[in-house]
Amino acid sequence: MHTILQLQQIIQKAIDEKQYPSHPKELYEPISYLMALGGKRLRPVLVLMATDLFAGDIYKAINAALAIETFHNFTLMHDDIMDNAPLRRGKPTVHAKWNQSVAILAGDVMFVESFKLIIQVDATILQQVLNVFNDTAVGVCEGQQIDMNFETAPKVTLADYIEMIRLKTAVLLGGALKIGALIGNANLYDAEKLYDFGVNLGIAFQLQDDILDVYGDPEKFGKQVGGDILANKKTFLLIKALELADEQTLNQLNGYLQNTSISPSEKVSYITAIYNKLNIKDIAQAQMITYAEISLKALNEINAPNERKMMLKEFANMLTKRDN
Ligand code: IPE
Ligand code: IPE
Ligand code: MG
Ligand code: MG
Ligand code: MG
Repeated sequence: MHTILQLQQIIQKAIDEKQYPSHPKELYEPISYLMALGGKRLRPVLVLMATDLFAGDIYKAINAALAIETFHNFTLMHDDIMDNAPLRRGKPTVHAKWNQSVAILAGDVMFVESFKLIIQVDATILQQVLNVFNDTAVGVCEGQQIDMNFETAPKVTLADYIEMIRLKTAVLLGGALKIGALIGNANLYDAEKLYDFGVNLGIAFQLQDDILDVYGDPEKFGKQVGGDILANKKTFLLIKALELADEQTLNQLNGYLQNTSISPSEKVSYITAIYNKLNIKDIAQAQMITYAEISLKALNEINAPNERKMMLKEFANMLTKRDN
């Protein structure tokens, strides 16, 4: 059994050792740039933790872990174009540092790279793993499109929102765990339960991301605070505020959402003030904890030694307290 720290170090080493071609440099430099900016490496660690949970050989899961992290970074590169985001991991986004065409193409080749890595799993489980990988990748794209549709949709319910974040974010955590479980020779029941753990944890994870987008410390968060407000993203915070606001506050809120003459910083501070008045942060945190608790129930039902499950529990608890 390995500690979270050991798994993180194994992943970091594998990422550092990965070499991309040098030519054409406009295609490959942005990949090395984004991958080297760090990030929490949460998803590849989940792959290895899942293999470890079933006492599998984690070294057999490293390429799959790299595949998942490369895929994740590809989605970030394209997401930052879609969200018009200037900052990622405390540094300029790829499209801001180079240009959009560079970010599109570098992202495309990262997707191919992730595929080259994932197909290196043992031939006996290749088809099963590819099914999970492909379903996950399609899910992320569906979620990303729905996320953008919601920017201008007049009415988005909380159920619509949860389904959107399940797709854009949570299925990748679930998929990472399920792939790790398959590599660890878990049976299908346990692999599915671990997937459920990951999906519910992923929903909690995205709720925390939405909270940090408004309330995070810009230094630690590494992304533009208020970006979701500026893009009129239908986050849990906005949907809840629209639901709880009295008539006067609702008119104000809708006014700010539609107003194109106020400055970006004014828009962020006015809407944040409404969230504060309605106590939205606490409500969002309570919802986040609820999903983390649901995830732990799925973990409980898995047939694996308790001391091994403790690691995932600890990891889940860590995520609900994160500030980046
Ligand atoms: C960012 O993911 C995208 C979301 C799903 C919110 P992370 O917060 O895991 O990003 P890094 O990899 O640690 O930078
Ligand atoms: C992104 O959600 C999910 C994916 C990248 C697929 P966000 O748009 O909230 O992620 P961040 O906040 O930019 O990391
Ligand atoms: Mg986005
Ligand atoms: Mg984004
Ligand atoms: Mg976000």
